[in-house]
Amino acid sequence: NLQPPPGQIKDTSIKLVNDPAHPWIAPGKDDIRGPCPGLNTLANHGYLPRNGIARPSQIVEAAQEGFNMENSRAIFITYAAHLVDGNLVTDLLSIGGKSAATGPNPPSPAIVGGLDTHAVFEGDASMTRGDAFFGDNHSFNETLFQELVTISKKFGGGFYNIASASELRFKRIQDSIATNPQFSFVSPRYFTAYGESAFPIAFFIDGRDTSGNLDLGVARGFFQHGRMPTGFHRANFTTAEDVANNAPIFDAHPIQPGANNGTVNSYTVDPDSADFSASGFCKLYTDFVTKTIRGLYPNAKGQLLTALNTNLDFFFDVIASQGCTKVPAFV
Ligand code: HEM
Ligand code: MG
Repeated sequence: NLQPPPGQIKDTSIKLVNDPAHPWIAPGKDDIRGPCPGLNTLANHGYLPRNGIARPSQIVEAAQEGFNMENSRAIFITYAAHLVDGNLVTDLLSIGGKSAATGPNPPSPAIVGGLDTHAVFEGDASMTRGDAFFGDNHSFNETLFQELVTISKKFGGGFYNIASASELRFKRIQDSIATNPQFSFVSPRYFTAYGESAFPIAFFIDGRDTSGNLDLGVARGFFQHGRMPTGFHRANFTTAEDVANNAPIFDAHPIQPGANNGTVNSYTVDPDSADFSASGFCKLYTDFVTKTIRGLYPNAKGQLLTALNTNLDFFFDVIASQGCTKVPAFV
């Protein structure tokens, strides 16, 4: 029942992806969309099932085909999300809210709530979506988008680029510190926040354009409407991988992982969270498996246990080369 993730696509050329076979169609009233503009776009263009319910293997395939995301990156993100938000037995994940279409629920504390689920993958200080504390962590937020526009004009010459991404990432963190008493910015969110800040530059700029500047109208298309511009060509594979490694955005304003402690303006560094130090990536992996995932599945049995361990294998396989010690299979 579980489909293994596909490998790297052979043809990584820059090519037309908003093509006649993949027209943008607005989601219907029962189609699910969520906090990720990349996946919303892939669903609206039919690279993913238009109902917003997909197998993780389909998501990997779609991210590669539609955006030229590198295989191990696509697998790592997708299986991280699927392990905490998806139905491991039916092999289905909602790209937005919880849905009966992913199949029968496993016993709690498992959630299987789709990508909208707060604090296991989705997290605070997103660019165009609000913090869960304010009530909606997944819908496009015009006020926040205007912040992206303002910062891009002020620091990026009217574009979303590395300069504006660096300032916006920092500003979103400062805003959350000042307004969200429950602001949390620890691993894994700490890592995804910097990754997502780079993704629009890596993946939303036409592959024929080498400027590193994302037009703000095009940005709105992706963030708000999940829509590729007319004639859109997917990114240059090498450039995208380069940009997706987001060190410059962090280096511009380094922030240590931490959280507010129940009141605003109380940000306290959390020394127990993985960070960008040399050992940080393996700690991200180990903590995610032993704390976040194990916390949801403390005593899985039978086919659920088998599915859990199989997905954990897919997840580890793509980082095996990074020298992290594999967490033993759950029993
Ligand atoms: C958020 C882009 C693939 C799950 C985001 C954001 C961007 C983005 C720009 C930040 C939105 C914001 O801060 O307003 C992309 C692109 C992808 C891609 C271009 C493909 C090339 C994926 C995959 C998954 C995923 C494969 C998991 C299956 C999420 C989630 C969020 C998110 C859960 C919300 C996190 C948060 O902001 O709190 N994505 N993404 N994305 N993405 Fe993706
Ligand atoms: Mg968020």
